Amino acid sequence: MHQQDRALGLAAPTLVRTAVEIAKEKPVQPVTLVRPHAAARAARFFVEKFPGRSMYAVKANPSPDLLQILWDAGVTHYDVASLGEVRLVARTLPDATLCFMHPVKAEEAIHQAYFEHGVRVFSLDSMEELEKIVAATSRDGVAAADLTLCVRIRVSSDLSKLSLASKFGVMPDEAKALLFAARQAADALGICFHVGSQAMSPDAYAQAMERVRAAIVEAAVTVDVIDVGGGFPSVYPGMEPVALERYFETIHRAFESLPVSYSAELWAEPGRALCAEYSSIIVRVEKRRGDELYINDGAYGALFDAAHIGWRFPVRLLREPDSNAKDMAFSFYGPTCDDLDHMTGPFLLPADIRAGDYIEVGMLGAYGSAMRTAFNGFGSDETVIVEDEPMASLYAEVEPAVASNVVTL
Ligand SMILES: Cc1ncc(COP(=O)(O)O)c(C=O)c1O
Repeated sequence: MHQQDRALGLAAPTLVRTAVEIAKEKPVQPVTLVRPHAAARAARFFVEKFPGRSMYAVKANPSPDLLQILWDAGVTHYDVASLGEVRLVARTLPDATLCFMHPVKAEEAIHQAYFEHGVRVFSLDSMEELEKIVAATSRDGVAAADLTLCVRIRVSSDLSKLSLASKFGVMPDEAKALLFAARQAADALGICFHVGSQAMSPDAYAQAMERVRAAIVEAAVTVDVIDVGGGFPSVYPGMEPVALERYFETIHRAFESLPVSYSAELWAEPGRALCAEYSSIIVRVEKRRGDELYINDGAYGALFDAAHIGWRFPVRLLREPDSNAKDMAFSFYGPTCDDLDHMTGPFLLPADIRAGDYIEVGMLGAYGSAMRTAFNGFGSDETVIVEDEPMASLYAEVEPAVASNVVTL
């Protein structure tokens, strides 16, 4: 990561501190802003307040700089979903503990993760996967004796904005046999689930924990780990969750009431909540057509979610002096030639916005930069560290920088 770059049309590297200052330099390409202090604050919050162990779900944002920030703030465990993520974290944080939590893995990936990178924690949701894990971690026909196996059970995503209820998770009528079989192969047995991303109510976890209870009672096995997965929300326009402490309290209460709580560990796999506030982008308006703004990032860049699932991110005009015009609703077109490169929003911006203006699109640290492509020759790696506050925060008393479309709690 660097502080400045010639490609921005800027002269010598200088310390740039705020989004507004960067817009003043009139960057030709989109610029990613990163806020290490915001990611460190989120990590410290989870480390200090979650009533168990928090492991970061790397898929949300695999930036090595971010991994280092989280590590420095006390996050020691990482949820990895592919061999690529295993290698990335092992290279970046050699002392980190890796947990391979994708329920469907290549046998070769399991083998390499176990023998070359010391991974001992694996998730699964089928007998086939259990057999794969046992085979891939055996040495000379002798089964590994140091596995932690987490059986993923299917739970509802009804209280979350993004469903994860279809693809993974063993159904209740098959859980007993799988838990029993995994118990035989495991040194430690876990039960994990995912309530869906951006869970808008703590009840999502309370309901899922009832499924866990039923599975434990039905299978009558000793369980050593309860892993409540990801799903912890961030804050976006129209999506303002209650305080994360309420989620933690609900989870703690539900965990304490499980028959295994006296001996089991409680884990979580937050992705979005740890990194959403870490980054945003500055884009330039290249053209205005009525209430449509043509900007230089979009569906194939950091705004994948805005285009493909209609996610609304906070926006603000970066112009000095500021506009006095009232806000109106705009939609965005991204830079590629593709009609799909369209973001409905609505994005509220001053009515006099015009070509050449700069906009900050906030809360893109989770599943934003991770999804970027260079399709059509667009996209840019320009990244600048800034020290101002993110456009919204679950962790700070944020004074909104501008405008009514900035969300605070
Ligand atoms: C297994 C697993 N854990 C954790 C996460 C992170 O979820 P979130 O970003 O909603 O916290 C995901 C996201 O897809 C996941 O699949």
